[in-house]
Amino acid sequence: MGVEIVGLGKCLPEKVVTNDDISDLVDTDHTWIIERTGIEQRHVATVETGVDLACGAGEEALRGIDRDSIGLVLVATVTPDAMVPVTSAQVKRRLGLENAVAFDINAACSGFMYGLWNAEALMKNGAMPGSNTMEIKRALVIGVERLSRITNWEERSSCILFGDGAGAAVLENRPGSSGILATYLKNYDDERGVLTCGKEYHKIPFWQDEIQPQHLALRGKAVFKFAVNSIEEVTMAALEKAGLTLDDIDWFVPHQANGRIMIAAAQRLNQPIEKFQISINKSANVSSASIPMALYDLSKTGKMEKGDKIAVMGFGGGLSAAAAIIEW
Ligand SMILES: CC(C)(COP(=O)(O)OP(=O)(O)OC[C@H]1O[C@@H](n2cnc3c(N)ncnc32)[C@H](O)[C@@H]1OP(=O)(O)O)[C@@H](O)C(=O)NCCC(=O)NCCS
Repeated sequence: MGVEIVGLGKCLPEKVVTNDDISDLVDTDHTWIIERTGIEQRHVATVETGVDLACGAGEEALRGIDRDSIGLVLVATVTPDAMVPVTSAQVKRRLGLENAVAFDINAACSGFMYGLWNAEALMKNGAMPGSNTMEIKRALVIGVERLSRITNWEERSSCILFGDGAGAAVLENRPGSSGILATYLKNYDDERGVLTCGKEYHKIPFWQDEIQPQHLALRGKAVFKFAVNSIEEVTMAALEKAGLTLDDIDWFVPHQANGRIMIAAAQRLNQPIEKFQISINKSANVSSASIPMALYDLSKTGKMEKGDKIAVMGFGGGLSAAAAIIEW
């Protein structure tokens, strides 16, 4: 029994914010941003909600697929429109996925990878909701973010990095197929608080009324180092589980956090950068959405062929990291 990706979708807000636009807000310039991050522009939601973006990506991924066959909707996000109802429940309702159960996942920028792992496990081992016998035939896994909502637009070392958008994948449980060959996840302890948002949520507003805005905060160099180290560790571990080596991999699809992180990871893995899908230039870091968006972009290049092996790698707050080896 294999779990394959049979549909991909992507949805971006209409508004594009260039590096020059950001230099109107903070003391920065296009050259610095492009050289340090590889980012040329990002999309920012001004009229779209997170549910709009998630449904846009989901619609596209579901094209040609029987909606009644979707037994599971998982949405990874750190920026839900509302705490309740959860994003996945709203997506299920709006897309008319009558037979699906829905829940959200928050594993920061690794969210889509943790969603993939959950979906695969439930599809292989779980029963179809409402039945004790049938397995879940298909699942919709979405990563969606409106990071613009939690970005500190006055802080130049972080506001340049983030964007909004959604990416989606439909998974299918197919007897005799390969699909996801192996997954490896790991959590490291963020002892120094290098990547945080909502650090003050524990405060009790009943008598502490001075709650500060809860923006994304990062210690860039520390996250950079963690990213390159963890990509190497989880990728090698996933490859070992799959019984493959780095040279068997045709395409690498890492979380799009910084162009230089991807170049450093390619060097660390001793692989040509041409094998890496780079989407950060046009859409920046979209946390849990960036991996399905990059997978979508890779699929649209027409370079991928049936049977190609893909290593998908995520890392983020927590600190969390994950890699999956997928046969296309
Ligand atoms: C944030 C990041 C781009 C910063 O790049 P860097 O090369 O580490 O740059 P530094 O933070 O060392 O800053 C170098 C200098 O540029 C300045 N600088 C920072 N942001 C700047 C900006 N937007 N424009 C111009 N100068 C800037 C700094 O103030 C510093 O100046 P100084 O040398 O006078 O002190 C990079 O570390 C990164 O991408 N880290 C990981 C991203 C991340 O955390 N992603 C989220 C998790 S997935």
